[in-house]
Amino acid sequence: MSSQNHHTTTRSVARYFDTMDYGPAPESDTDARQWLARNAEGFGHFIDGRFTAAGAGAHFETAEPATGQRLARIAQGSAQDVDAAVAAARAAQPGWLALGGHGRARHLYALARMVQRHARLLAVVEALDNGKPIRETRDLDVPLVARHFYHHAGWAQLQEREFADQVPLGVVGQIIPWNFPLLMLAWKIAPALALGNAVVLKPAELTPLSALLFAELAAQAGLPPGVLNVVTGDGATGAALVAHEGVDKIAFTGSTDVGRLIREATAGSGKSLTLELGGKSPFIVFDDADIDAAVEGVVDAIWFNQGQVCCAGSRLLLQEGIADDFIERLKRRMQSLRVGSPMDKAIDMGSLIDPTQLERVRTLVATGVREGASCYQAPGALPPGGSFFPPTLLTGVHPASTVSTEEIFGPVLVTMTFRTPDEAVALANNTRYGLAASVWSETIGLALGIAPQLQAGVVWVNATNLFDAGVGFGGYRESGYGREGGREGCYEYLKPRAWAERKPRTAQVNAEAANETNKAQAKPSSTLPAIDRTAKLFIGGKQVRPDGELSHPVLAAGGQRAGEVGTGNRKDIRNAVAAARSAAGWSSATPHRRAQALYYLAENLSARADEFAARIASLTGVASRAAQAEVDASVSRLFAYGAWADKYEGTVHVPPLRGVALATVEPMGVVGVVCPDEAPLLSFVSLFAPLMGMGNRTVIVPSEKHPLIATDFYQVLETSDLPAGVINLVTGPAASLAQTLAEHDDVDALWVFGAKELSRNAERLSVGNLKRTLVDHGLATDWHDAASAEGPLLLRHATQVKNIWIPYGE
Ligand code: NAI
Repeated sequence: MSSQNHHTTTRSVARYFDTMDYGPAPESDTDARQWLARNAEGFGHFIDGRFTAAGAGAHFETAEPATGQRLARIAQGSAQDVDAAVAAARAAQPGWLALGGHGRARHLYALARMVQRHARLLAVVEALDNGKPIRETRDLDVPLVARHFYHHAGWAQLQEREFADQVPLGVVGQIIPWNFPLLMLAWKIAPALALGNAVVLKPAELTPLSALLFAELAAQAGLPPGVLNVVTGDGATGAALVAHEGVDKIAFTGSTDVGRLIREATAGSGKSLTLELGGKSPFIVFDDADIDAAVEGVVDAIWFNQGQVCCAGSRLLLQEGIADDFIERLKRRMQSLRVGSPMDKAIDMGSLIDPTQLERVRTLVATGVREGASCYQAPGALPPGGSFFPPTLLTGVHPASTVSTEEIFGPVLVTMTFRTPDEAVALANNTRYGLAASVWSETIGLALGIAPQLQAGVVWVNATNLFDAGVGFGGYRESGYGREGGREGCYEYLKPRAWAERKPRTAQVNAEAANETNKAQAKPSSTLPAIDRTAKLFIGGKQVRPDGELSHPVLAAGGQRAGEVGTGNRKDIRNAVAAARSAAGWSSATPHRRAQALYYLAENLSARADEFAARIASLTGVASRAAQAEVDASVSRLFAYGAWADKYEGTVHVPPLRGVALATVEPMGVVGVVCPDEAPLLSFVSLFAPLMGMGNRTVIVPSEKHPLIATDFYQVLETSDLPAGVINLVTGPAASLAQTLAEHDDVDALWVFGAKELSRNAERLSVGNLKRTLVDHGLATDWHDAASAEGPLLLRHATQVKNIWIPYGE
């Protein structure tokens, strides 16, 4: 072949590839249609191991998103249906737990095998029901579902050893969305069941089919009746599950608005809660990135699952120098994306979930354009019928515009540029969400330097949308709380054995107090006179007068005045939060440094042990031996958290890819703490020390009844070389100060120990910024018992896990 010929041939082959069109490569849906036909009269709920009668009660119809045609008739769950499902779960749970870890492991293993055996049917049903490409359900959703059951079979097997100090929660209500119906089912039920809970699951009303099919297959696979119940229906059914008194926990994935409603509805009920909510995740490309790889990354970040992904990389942040080139290459790539029937194995994008979502996406894009963005859409006709929307790119958007801040939940990408790494971090974090982030740079030092600065629960380095059952997934900030997957995900379905045995505070504490007072009266424990002075607040490393210039008397155990203490108000809390916020250096201080500070506090407290013991005895009326024991325990506890400070570390995961995922533990940030009245020194120390050791800055409301113990502690703080603002103390009325902390949007987490009502309000009022709460619901903690009040238990609440995925190799 002459070189001339050769040239011509390659040109024509290239032209052929350029102009080549793909024919449809449809997946057969025969089996799925047959399954639907068998249930043509409608689906019942799956309760206690069998389906309820199809014709009974209210029903609604679901449609196939890609065609708009009727798909199935689904039961609308009533409060009675929810009740029956909860009762079945309640009855089944003790037996399920009694099976033991190995017994449950075998069932989870059977579920994993069952998913693999029926992979094709599940993938097709999912694609029909949701409108997403069969390629995705087949290659991603279903394999990940199987992996979740295998992985959690392993946790069941290891439970007695690895979670010996924990017990399951009981009956768990789980509410999932429509974007990954089967995958979300697996993420929810695999850990819950593995660890000995029973489940009532409510799938999304738009996509209930794969859950119903799963339930049917699970029964065939021998899952005991009542362990898994599926009640279908809309938000009203979900609300009935949330409100049900027989439910010990709600695990929810969905919109932030509904997440807030659920937080309010469960406040004070004692139900545990995890929320996996929305996001507006940044996709950051530095100028030294592998640009072609990053362009492919963007395709996956925003056009996977039609962009209906909570962690979608929906904000593309480009370093200025590469922006034009990048956008041009991205547009070119968009031209080859194919939108089509979900059953076509060769398409890139299917249909949005329904006409409402389509309209929502359309409206948001129009708003973006009205607010000044330029809109580029991949050319080509969209399939007729269904809720199709093309891959869309909005350039020239302002960081404050609607499309930059609102979760669009569709195939719409917005882009912005930055100059420096600091600017990239600032832009990336300029959102109230914090679910995921993607960082692209060939300079490992840069990428790994950026990852810890991003406020997100998951960070992918030179990658995006990687998931694994062993690697925790979940958000920071308003993206919700709790993790799914991995060891941290298991803790969401367990509670400490020691806490499970707590008794209501009033009964226990009053009895103890009476007991101690009797002892104190029989043998006076302190001969010291009460010290009469007015203690100030401690804010930003200084003793300051309260804003209102008010103080109130504090009584000793015998009823005599022990002194005056400042009456803090909202303004004082705000000042304290500002001081804590500006002590950001503490969160990046080395663990060694934080450990040293805790040991030093211990040393200085120990030097004043007698003084503190006398004070405790005179204020609380306990015998001097008990007071001495409280001080000794407090010194020991400070040592314990000094010890943990550089030992409570992360993990290296080895997920199924070439690379690692670093599970790092990060401080929550600024944490409010409301201390109880019992053991006023030990409870105060037990609460602030784990927070401080993990790098949080705290605003503490000391025991309302015995605040002088904490104000005496100023001297220990002042002599302990602690940076200003790390610990701030505001004395005063617990209820109103707790309220201000709960409502403050710059407080990241709130711990409240004390009266039951305080817990309820803390949970209810924390919805504004969805702050994490740790409350005792009025149950008394034994502060002397290390199993209840020391160690990883509180450290877990003092931290959040960020998983940084680092694929490597060529
Ligand atoms: P949604 O949050 O209303 O629905 C999620 C689940 O919660 C469904 O099972 C629903 O029936 C249930 N639910 C609704 N109201 C409830 C209530 N009051 N109490 C208990 N359960 C309730 O989400 P929706 O309406 O399907 O989608 C609306 C928007 O939410 C989307 O446009 C998208 O922006 C966002 N979204 C985010 C998701 C995520 O994973 N982050 C998932 C789904 C939607």
